[in-house]
Amino acid sequence: MRILLTGSSGWLGSALAPRLRELGHDVTGLDPVPSVETHIVGSIADRDLVMRTVRDNRIDAVIHSGALHKPNIENRAYSDFVATNVQGTLNLLDAAVAAGVQRFVFTSTTSLMISQAIRDGLTGGARKAAWLTEEMTPEPRNIYGVTKLSAEHLCRLYHIQHGLPVVVLRTARFFPEADDMAHVIEQSDANTKANELLFRRLTVEDAADAHILALEKAPRLGFDTFIVSAPTPFRPNDCAALIADAPSVVARYFPEFPALYARKGWTMFSSIDRVYDASRARDRLGFVCKTSFADVLAGIAGEEGRA
Ligand SMILES: NC(=O)c1ccc[n+]([C@@H]2O[C@H](COP(=O)([O-])OP(=O)(O)OC[C@H]3O[C@@H](n4cnc5c(N)ncnc54)[C@H](O)[C@@H]3O)[C@@H](O)[C@H]2O)c1
Repeated sequence: MRILLTGSSGWLGSALAPRLRELGHDVTGLDPVPSVETHIVGSIADRDLVMRTVRDNRIDAVIHSGALHKPNIENRAYSDFVATNVQGTLNLLDAAVAAGVQRFVFTSTTSLMISQAIRDGLTGGARKAAWLTEEMTPEPRNIYGVTKLSAEHLCRLYHIQHGLPVVVLRTARFFPEADDMAHVIEQSDANTKANELLFRRLTVEDAADAHILALEKAPRLGFDTFIVSAPTPFRPNDCAALIADAPSVVARYFPEFPALYARKGWTMFSSIDRVYDASRARDRLGFVCKTSFADVLAGIAGEEGRA
């Protein structure tokens, strides 16, 4: 397929482009920042450029990952977020419909599901972790979430009005940098990322694979939205205990975890405030992340065996 990949110079785009090429696809990368994966240096907010690019390259499928996201909140105006994340998505949808594109995958974010109340740990007014599925009604707490949710709605509208097959992937975090709260967590970056695989993280390789499967299945799915995160061991009835004493809950599912963590000098978060449930992606998209918390523990156990 001839695929337009937006955000091709980014972390996800750079992981995705070579995988798509290995599968035999012809990838046109579009990003304002130059890179080896970017063929067209420009913005999705430039409507003429987007229309021309889709038409002239006879694009069959769009993977739309380019965005201003959470780190940009500090340094970009709200109007830049609207221009890139909302108008840019609209431009791509219009170009896709005009060119008869039959597959559109939109990289969204689990972050849009985090309201201020969830952020404050007050699910339903009570102190318990939020159990997050695609069924909940998001109330995003920042401009990133608001513009991503608006873009999701545009995708849905274009499916309804034009029959464009669109898969929305609400991905959990896969960024390589340390968390912006790292200074208060007092853990190594590897420790924090391992903990997050229990409820809010996936590897960039898994994120790329989810996009590839979504691309394949889009025509059959029509329109759907999926949370994409490493499979959680937790269940909804763990939510109160996850806030009160997360290490005990983790130890219930992984009795070997305290000893393995102790060997590394690692710690578990004392409290876990949300869980992204990726079971709909498993059931309808057929996607499960390859890497989970269990793999981290197996890795630590393996290190011990080799020592
Ligand atoms: N990194 C995460 O943990 C995470 C979590 C959830 C969702 N996401 C989403 O995944 C996607 C990729 O994120 P990433 O982590 O690779 O971020 P990134 O910042 O590395 O990549 C985003 C890319 O989008 C490009 N971009 C910005 N404005 C653009 C425009 N006007 N036109 C075209 N491209 C533009 C940037 O130049 C950049 O190369 C984003 O849509 C982001 O919202 C990321």
